[in-house]
Amino acid sequence: LASRGATPSLAVAAQVEAQSGARLTIVYGSQTGNAKRVAEQLARQGESAGLHVRLLRADAYPTRELKDERHLYLVISTQGDGDPPDDARSLVEFIAGKRAPALKQLRYAVLGLGDSSYPQFCAIGQKLDARLAELGATRLLPRGDADLDIDSVAAPWLEQALAQAKETLKPSAPLATVTPLRPLPAAPAYTRDAPYAAELLASQRITGRGGDKDVRHIELSLEGSGLSYAPGDALGLWPRNPPALVEAVLRTLELDGDAAVTHSGQSLPLREWLGGKRELTKLSRPFVASHAAQSRSDELNRLLAPDQAAQLTRLLAEHQVIDLLQRYDSAWAPEELVAALRPLTPRLYSIASSQKLVGEEAHLTVAHVEYTHGGDTRWGAASHQFATAEEGARLPVFIEHNERFRLPAEPSRDVIMIGPGTGVAPFRGFVQERAATRPMTTGTRGRNWLLFGNPHFRSDFLYQVEWQQALKDGTLHRLDLAFSRDQADKVYVQHKLREHGRDLFDWLEGGAHLYVCGDATRMAKDVHAALLAVIAEHGGKSAGDAGDYLNTLQSQGRYARDVY
Ligand code: 2AM
Repeated sequence: LASRGATPSLAVAAQVEAQSGARLTIVYGSQTGNAKRVAEQLARQGESAGLHVRLLRADAYPTRELKDERHLYLVISTQGDGDPPDDARSLVEFIAGKRAPALKQLRYAVLGLGDSSYPQFCAIGQKLDARLAELGATRLLPRGDADLDIDSVAAPWLEQALAQAKETLKPSAPLATVTPLRPLPAAPAYTRDAPYAAELLASQRITGRGGDKDVRHIELSLEGSGLSYAPGDALGLWPRNPPALVEAVLRTLELDGDAAVTHSGQSLPLREWLGGKRELTKLSRPFVASHAAQSRSDELNRLLAPDQAAQLTRLLAEHQVIDLLQRYDSAWAPEELVAALRPLTPRLYSIASSQKLVGEEAHLTVAHVEYTHGGDTRWGAASHQFATAEEGARLPVFIEHNERFRLPAEPSRDVIMIGPGTGVAPFRGFVQERAATRPMTTGTRGRNWLLFGNPHFRSDFLYQVEWQQALKDGTLHRLDLAFSRDQADKVYVQHKLREHGRDLFDWLEGGAHLYVCGDATRMAKDVHAALLAVIAEHGGKSAGDAGDYLNTLQSQGRYARDVY
């Protein structure tokens, strides 16, 4: 992207250098691609306005240049419990760290992205915004903190950011010799904002009845849509809330579902707002605050106090909107309710297939979220829809590309895939892809090593038959399993990593690529720690050097995570 791939002649380089004071640098840190999308939008707008723009992913930003940077916009997301996205870890550490330089020359602004279901909402954006000011930089505009419905905050922020940039940087005719930003490709027909109505071909339970988990194998048809994906990409679904939940909300609040409600210039029956336009299955801090005000509940108000953070975290993680409505009486007017609830946003699922094998289909591995709360059944919006939709139903979907989670370009490289639970999904796609593109001569073919874990062998060995067939075919070379509840002590994938540490380190030294997919809060952290321990032990390295080793792998694109 941007001009970083260009190798300008010396004369041109000098010109660019002379101009660099008048350059707008946009840096993004993105886990799921949203921050990238917003940053690209800003870059395109800047270029159209005649500004000299460079757009960089955070791990491509040369931190030594920060002390000379004049105009910087940072677009960065925060992961669930307050972590930076993987591609921004080093940059965040650098800026927050003791060795960060004074930044008197810098003018900047920060747009944070996050999810207000988590108390650490936009924490990384906040931290960078505050730290840059502390280092002496001038804040050009207030930070934006964008929730899952990104554009309601991002759009006005982008507008202001662009206006500021135009004012401070003199737009010049773009240098013909500077490689422009990637030209806008022909817009794909179906996008996040214009989804494709994909036919549901199959929704099949793949966990045994005896187990606790209900995991579905989903097959969708993309036929005729022109949509395509690579293994590692995700499929987004615009979900609808379970109809029973919508009715429960209407009943609890004694509101008429047929009554027309106008919000942001759109008039729809309240039932449709709640069914297809507003989040009901996820609770956010702003809604808790609104409901505390509506219900005048002291108990709820107390939960919002700073010393109740742990309780609030639990409330947000374990409850839905309906739980609050049932517990704390209120008198919501329909318009106010629609305004206070967050807009419904798409759910992303790692694609579990390769188009080389399945053509115009996309397969997913979906855990059906279903539990009881005070005698009522509660569901996750998207997973319940996948689990209950009839075959032949049409669901609004789009493809979310994930360039950071890609098979190695060279088929000769080994890959190590760590995917417990539904985290196994992208690796089914990886193995399908590597089997389909297998060169004729076996000598140049890299090996595939899968580590999978789940509670029980009998009920939860997802895609067991396929993995066993792949082992037989020689398209999967090694499979290590961690069934956590089949013995007295828990066995997890990271225990398997430690146990086979010698082999793991040898594979890495031989150039293997390492992938982790699945639970972010516990599994991915524990796996990361296990990897560090293996590298330290078998590479004879200090903890610091093991950390550098993993960071190097990551910057080479050889350690990629798709965690949620
Ligand atoms: P458990 O539920 O028996 O504790 C997929 O969800 C698998 O990941 C399950 O076997 C689950 O085990 C396991 N798991 C739970 N916590 C984990 C952690 N911190 N690291 C790795 N695996 C974990």
